[in-house]
Amino acid sequence: MDALWLTFSIPLLFSSLVWSGYLEYDQDVLIPEDWTRVGRVDPAEELELTFALKQQNVNLLEETLRWVSDPDSAQYGKYLTLEEVASLVRPSELTHKVVRHWLHSHGITNCLTVRTEDFLQCTMTAEVAEKLLPGSRFNRYIRDGQSLVRSSAPYSVHDDVHQHLDFVGGLHRFPPKGQDLRKEQKSSKEGIHLGVTPVILRTRYNLTAADVGTAQNNSQAVAQFLEQYYHPADLAEFMSLFGGSFQHLSQVDRVVGTQGGGKAGIEASLDIEYIMSTGANVSTWVFTNPGRHESQEPFLQWMLLLSNMSDLPWVHTISYGDDEDSLSTAYMMRINTEFMKAGIRGISLLFASGDSGAGCRHLGKEQNSFRPSFPASSPYVTTVGGTSFKNPYKVTYEVTDYISGGGFSNVFKMPDYQVSAVEGYLKTVAAKLPPQSYYNVSGRAYPDMAALSDNYWVVINRVPVPWVSGTSASTPVVGGMLSLVNDHRLLKGLPTLGFLNPRLYKLKGQALFDVTEGCHLGCLDEQVQGQGFCAAPSWDPVTGWGTPNYPALLAALLSE
Ligand SMILES: *[C@@H]1O[C@H](CO)[C@@H](O)[C@H](O)[C@H]1NC(C)=O
Ligand SMILES: *[C@@H]1O[C@H](CO)[C@@H](O)[C@H](O)[C@H]1NC(C)=O
Ligand SMILES: *[C@@H]1O[C@H](CO)[C@@H](O)[C@H](O)[C@H]1NC(C)=O
Ligand SMILES: *[C@@H]1O[C@H](CO)[C@@H](O)[C@H](O)[C@H]1NC(C)=O
Ligand SMILES: *[C@@H]1O[C@H](CO)[C@@H](O)[C@H](O)[C@H]1NC(C)=O
Repeated sequence: MDALWLTFSIPLLFSSLVWSGYLEYDQDVLIPEDWTRVGRVDPAEELELTFALKQQNVNLLEETLRWVSDPDSAQYGKYLTLEEVASLVRPSELTHKVVRHWLHSHGITNCLTVRTEDFLQCTMTAEVAEKLLPGSRFNRYIRDGQSLVRSSAPYSVHDDVHQHLDFVGGLHRFPPKGQDLRKEQKSSKEGIHLGVTPVILRTRYNLTAADVGTAQNNSQAVAQFLEQYYHPADLAEFMSLFGGSFQHLSQVDRVVGTQGGGKAGIEASLDIEYIMSTGANVSTWVFTNPGRHESQEPFLQWMLLLSNMSDLPWVHTISYGDDEDSLSTAYMMRINTEFMKAGIRGISLLFASGDSGAGCRHLGKEQNSFRPSFPASSPYVTTVGGTSFKNPYKVTYEVTDYISGGGFSNVFKMPDYQVSAVEGYLKTVAAKLPPQSYYNVSGRAYPDMAALSDNYWVVINRVPVPWVSGTSASTPVVGGMLSLVNDHRLLKGLPTLGFLNPRLYKLKGQALFDVTEGCHLGCLDEQVQGQGFCAAPSWDPVTGWGTPNYPALLAALLSE
């Protein structure tokens, strides 16, 4: 701790009695080990902070989303435009007035808003930010050449504005580290392993050469937040090596955000190459590193973009997640509302379930629990788990990939659409369930479905690379197939699939290949010995309802 700081800490301690409003009292403010503090930010340096204003009618938004996503409702598919969403959730006049007045009184006038008027993004110096948000203390951190500004201590807001804000973005939450997606091959004695390519996927999921997109206004997107880039030349080479047998595009139609230079990342290449292989010939967009400033949170910036663009792709796949316990409840609740805002517009959001199985959190000496991941645990997204071929040398049926993320949220309660599916599972496997202290049986259970996640071929920096694995592979594979279903729906003049889960759970596994073998990872301790949950007939918290049998899924999802 530097000496200068001490002279300020006493008045700040005193003032924290007056400024008692912590919006994110349960936000983890520890600096992740892989980030190194460079030093305090210069007081004159400009920061960009994001203010999430309290919205109106969130209950009505949730209820309406339920109607428009329920295939048995007369409101099914009656989606809202961005303007209609705005008139529903737009913060009250009072909220706007109070927040603006608070900002103005600190000399902050340089703010941008979004079409729904529920976020403000303001520029101010670090000195002003620390006065505005008592307790905050801005430092610069670096990791692998990436530089960020974050606060090392929790912030508070004035009592007057406390009830008008959900949270302030740009102080906490470091970007998670990308997973190592290359699994080293353990033993190659038995010869060449079957690598997953577009042809293998299309064979397994019964996609014929005719199953490509044809609708004019259909589109799909991948969103990436890991300072990674895809190279157009890699995509072109991937398609020339692996795309021979079906009509496909070899170019992305639109890049939103900043595509940096430098080397391509495996994650970035994987997402794009595979969404364009199952969702073949469908116009594809890439949302990439939307944070333009060191103090922004890229994932949050992407959420703002969705609220600021009236014309968006219908399917988005996102390979991004963080431990629920590292995020504040206020933040997760608000992001969950942002997911509802997308769903009610007919947009499908698919998140990877994560690559650590049930996860593990150390609570104390010899006391562990599983560790759910967010946004995978949000009830308003479709979460995708992972599988492998039973026989790794052949296109056979699928079993659990032991890395497949899954479990029960500690934050979101179980949504109605999945209650009977989860109850069925708990009954079926009752005797073999992990101890109850490891998970929260009343929480939102995930994933919802799955696809192959093991041994993919990817082209990166012009080189074909084998053995790439993770649910970041299975997610775009499912996303592309949902885009093909949307394609047929659009051609028939039907609304898009939107938020899929209520409809998916009503299928009760029809049109999906049920995955019934294998368990995923859990805590390495005496009680569970490295094991989380196990797959079982019907829905399970490892592979959801299973993997898509495309022609059957299309038939099941093509009626009104
Ligand atoms: C939202 O879009 C409008 C233009 O349509 C732009 O003026 C505004 O700055 C954008 N908001 C943010 C936060 O970028
Ligand atoms: C789809 O694939 C499965 C297994 O690969 C096969 O049994 C089935 O007959 C195929 N066709 C259809 C239309 O489901
Ligand atoms: C590919 O999509 C376009 C519309 O974007 C369509 O005109 C074309 O017919 C499609 N190609 C095939 C082979 O279906
Ligand atoms: C839909 O079509 C319109 C008009 O051609 C175009 O401007 C828009 O970008 C398309 N939307 C998407 C999401 O592809
Ligand atoms: C379990 O989940 C519920 C919401 O579904 C939540 O209220 C409760 O706090 C959670 N319990 C634990 C121990 O996290």
